[in-house]
Parts: sequence; structure tokens; C-alpha cells
Amino acid sequence: MKKGKGMKFVGDSRITAEKVRFIPKDYSEYPGKTEAFWPNFLLKEWLAGSVFLVGFLCLVLAHPAPLEGPADPTDAAYLPLPDWYFLFLYQLLKYKFASAQYFVIGALVMPGLAFGGLMLAPFLDKGKGRRPNKRPISVSLMLLGIIAVFWLTWEAASHVDWEAKAEENRPIPPGSTVEIDTEDPGYAVYENNCLSCHGGQLEGVAGPALIGMEYSVEEIKQIAVEGIGDMPPGQFNGTEEELQQLAEFIVATNEQAAEDH
Ligand code: HEC
Repeated sequence: MKKGKGMKFVGDSRITAEKVRFIPKDYSEYPGKTEAFWPNFLLKEWLAGSVFLVGFLCLVLAHPAPLEGPADPTDAAYLPLPDWYFLFLYQLLKYKFASAQYFVIGALVMPGLAFGGLMLAPFLDKGKGRRPNKRPISVSLMLLGIIAVFWLTWEAASHVDWEAKAEENRPIPPGSTVEIDTEDPGYAVYENNCLSCHGGQLEGVAGPALIGMEYSVEEIKQIAVEGIGDMPPGQFNGTEEELQQLAEFIVATNEQAAEDH
């Protein structure tokens, strides 16, 4: 009997007729240009990652993120600004075509198109070439995007008075519930002259908080007598000795706050 003759072949629907087996590619013809993913490549990635992570942790320990002062709903001069990496989006909202009644364009449509467009990236240049000059469409779109982000960030940043903003949003050391030394002779002077506006804990009431400042004793004395900005002159009434005690008290409290921090 010939092979197969008279036999019935039964198909199994669970097995595809052309079963493709996964055969790992043979890279042996590219010596030195490839390496095993596990463990060689992964180990290198992991090493680089941990060096970066440790460096980043050290940086954060050395320079903790600064906090701004407590929110003050009565402060109309406060200038809320996004962090630098969102300044370009913020800048977009300043243009006529993207603000006021058209804000949807600036807030949703344009960023949505730009970021949504990233999904098109795989379909833009389908060539196999990986050099930039072989991928003109995606490369030029990317360059356009980078230039736009840089330019908008620059525009936004150049219109901000950074020194004034730093002054206004001066970070208050966290935990600035500073222990106020009410026994200090300067506190009595403070109570009589400044407390009504700057608060019993120097936390600020009508005037700003007097914690987190870097004024010297002389500067405080001058401000107490001559005023500053919206603080009218002549707030201090008393002797020169009391003025000295007052200023020393405020500076000492600030030094205490900085230490606690
Ligand atoms: C009538 C309310 C009022 C009184 C009283 C007052 N201040 Fe002020 N003070 C202010 C205001 C408002 C400011 C904010 C000025 C500005 O920056 O425009 C200010 C600012 C200050 C500043 C600068 C704060 C900073 O962060 O730059 C100091 C220091 C200060 N006052 C000290 C004193 C001292 C000391 C006394 C008591 C002798 C006093 N103030 C009494 C209203 C007052």
C-alpha cells in the first residue's frame, strides 16, 4: 500500500495550517555591534539609571523645592506663573487669536493638534532610512516644534520681571510656625507698633509676613521709620533704643526661622 493511500487526514482547527515559528534573528554576522539584551544590555541600562537617580536624589536633598508664601486672596499683585517647562503654553494664551473668546483655540485646539500630531509620527516618513536627511517630513516638523517651544518660552520669560517676582513670592521656610519670643524686649515694641499689620506671629495681616526676610538690623530700622512700598512711613514711635530692640528682635526671629528650616 502506498504511503497515505486509503488514509483519512483530519484537520484540527486549533492548529493553523502555516504555523510560523519564532526564530530569533542571527546577529552573529555583526560581531561587536550587538549584545545580549539579558543580562548585558539591561545591566548597563540599570547602572546608568541608578547613577542618574542617585545624582538626582542628592540634588534634591541639597536644594529642596522652594515653597512660596501662603496664598493670599487679597493680593491682587500676585503673578501666578507656570513653571518654566509650561511657559510656552502660557505664552500661547497671550495672543489675540488664542485668548479671550478664542481661548479654546489656545488652551485646547493648538496644544491638542501639536501633541495629538505626535501620534502621526509613525505614518509621516515611512522610509527605512534612519538618517535625518532621509526623513525630511518628521525632522522638519520636529525642528519646527522645538523652535516654537523655545521661542514661546523666551517670549514669555522676557516679559516677566523675575527679580520682582522672586521678591514677591519669596519662599517662606517650611515650618515657619516660628517660636516667637514674647519675652524679648523687642516684642513689646513690635506689639505696639507693627503687630496690627504684620500679625502676632509675624505671619502678616494687612502687611506681608516678616518671616523669611534677609534684611539687616539697619534695614529694618530704616523700614520701620521710613516705610517701604505700600507701608507708610512713621509706623515706629519710640526711642532709638526701642527701635534697635525691635529690629534685633525681627532679625533674630528670622534667623531662628531659617535655622529651623
Ligand atoms: C499700617 C500697616 C503697617 C504697619 C503698622 C507696619 N507695616 Fe510694615 N508693611 C506694611 C505693608 C503694607 C508692607 C508691604 C510694603 C510693600 O512691599 O509694598 C510692609 C512691609 C514691611 C517690611 C518689608 C517686608 C518685605 O518682605 O520686604 C518690613 C521689614 C516691615 N514692613 C516692617 C515693619 C515694622 C518693623 C513695623 C513696626 C514699626 C511695621 N512694618 C509696621 C504695613 C505696615
